[in-house]
Amino acid sequence: MDSITVYIQQDDFSFQPLEIPLGIQMSMMEVLKGEGYETIEGICGGMALCGTCRVEVLNKDEINLEGANDNEICMLETLPCYTGNCRLSCQLQVTEKLDGMKIRIPADTL
Ligand code: FES
Repeated sequence: MDSITVYIQQDDFSFQPLEIPLGIQMSMMEVLKGEGYETIEGICGGMALCGTCRVEVLNKDEINLEGANDNEICMLETLPCYTGNCRLSCQLQVTEKLDGMKIRIPADTL
């Protein structure tokens, strides 16, 4: 496997596929910023301290997404996320485990 595909929900609820090469040593925050998603600010640079990179993972059970670590959980508890599916994209490293992940990017910034 040379790349993975992540699906990003659009305003009309359709999903836009985003192919990401493996081995790039980047987080989803960095990828999404690079793709021009402006609400992914990533102010703290990926330290799990700002919450401005949050995304909602719509199929976390389907892809068996690993749970958040303690630092991420602490930050997530301070964020306006009511579905229980929010994650900090800076803590999601691009690996094959993310293949097929469907995410929604909140329209609002913090
Ligand atoms: S970039 Fe700050 S919490 Fe992810």
